[in-house]
Amino acid sequence: MSWRTYSGRIREVHAREILDSRGNPTIEVEILTEEGVRARASVPSGASTGKYEAHELRDADPQRYNGKGVLRAIRNIHDEIAPHIIGLSVLDQAYIDHLLCRLDGTPNKSRLGANAILGVSLAVARAGANLYGLPLWQWLGGQRAHILPLPLVNVLNGGKHAPNPLDVQEFMLVPWGFPTFHEAIEATVRVFRQLQRLLEEKQLATGIGDEGGVAPQIATTKEALSLLMQAIERAGFTPDDHFALALDVASSELYDSSTQTYHIEGKTLTPDQWLTYWEHLINHYPIVSIEDLCAEDDWHTWQVATTRWGKHLQLVGDDLFVTNPNRLQQGITQHVANAILIKPNQIGTLTETLHVIELAQFHHYGTIISHRSGETEDPFIADLAVAVHARQIKTGGVTRTDRLAKYNQLLRIEEQLGGHAEYAGPHIQTQRQQQQKPKTSS
Ligand code: PGA
Ligand code: ZN
Repeated sequence: MSWRTYSGRIREVHAREILDSRGNPTIEVEILTEEGVRARASVPSGASTGKYEAHELRDADPQRYNGKGVLRAIRNIHDEIAPHIIGLSVLDQAYIDHLLCRLDGTPNKSRLGANAILGVSLAVARAGANLYGLPLWQWLGGQRAHILPLPLVNVLNGGKHAPNPLDVQEFMLVPWGFPTFHEAIEATVRVFRQLQRLLEEKQLATGIGDEGGVAPQIATTKEALSLLMQAIERAGFTPDDHFALALDVASSELYDSSTQTYHIEGKTLTPDQWLTYWEHLINHYPIVSIEDLCAEDDWHTWQVATTRWGKHLQLVGDDLFVTNPNRLQQGITQHVANAILIKPNQIGTLTETLHVIELAQFHHYGTIISHRSGETEDPFIADLAVAVHARQIKTGGVTRTDRLAKYNQLLRIEEQLGGHAEYAGPHIQTQRQQQQKPKTSS
């Protein structure tokens, strides 16, 4: 095949309102280039949103979808964005993303809507890949991309994602002790089946939470962790060797800023007592990663926690950093957290997302590419995780197509990479196990 160059000039931009995994409206954007190449991308949406996230524009028209329609954002794409980008090349991603930010003109993308802007930005990226007939991960990551991320698989839901009394939002399996991504997924499904069986036996009737994990009627973090441990063992695996555990506390939802206290399991805790509560659990379970352990504005407690546990535990900022370079920089400067959750719709363009990842990696912060609790079938983040060597991905449970779309895409990528594929799990395991756990008093 001879090498060809394409202009990639945009001929058409079309946006439509589709539905996400919760049945709420979201945006899908289609781009057509002058060569006749088409590409499509859609935008996810959060429930436990951080207050510093870029603005998701919704119609607030109570007559449609309970006010959650996105027709205004779609109008912004057709009337304001399209006329400016038609004729530009999809190969100029950074230029287009910069232009989108300039057109919006606000610091948090509240005029045109971060959802409108991201839909266009992601569709442009995919159009570039389609133009050259490359898989998205290869288009974005080039020859260097070959690492399959360690998935943090959410198998038990609480908090805002489930109608049960559990305060902590996400309980995740970390299948790091397997040689390949597909073996890690198979083992995870095996543990999940045991978890379901266990709940049946205990007559803890369970629905499925927003991110595809079970949502049993249990009330304490400890009960949830011990269910996970039993499921791992019943599936024939060894905690630590095969599976570790991860949590998303989403503690901004549990924090009262007026009294500076945390609320969990019916108790009100000072920041000191909050850390003591966690210390006990960290010492008794193979927890290797905790997200949003402290609230988005509680920088001081974050700092204390990082000093205390940051050497041996991954401490992840989600609501804390909101994929924003300024907030991440503050974290780096103040030695707060040691990893960042990356959600493209928290910042609003692909280029900005790539820059935040670069900043994090330069400062040796872990990077976890993440879905939102409201997702679509678009697997963009799976390709992104491989492209940027993120080494970790968080994309929910193993029961719903909106979550499986990402795992399935990673299975395809692993196959495409063939012998070059490398699974990040064992590397992260070795690295963690070399870091000394502090002696505990309890
Ligand atoms: P969200 O939840 O998409 O509802 O914000 C995911 C998370 O908190 O990580
Ligand atoms: Zn989170």
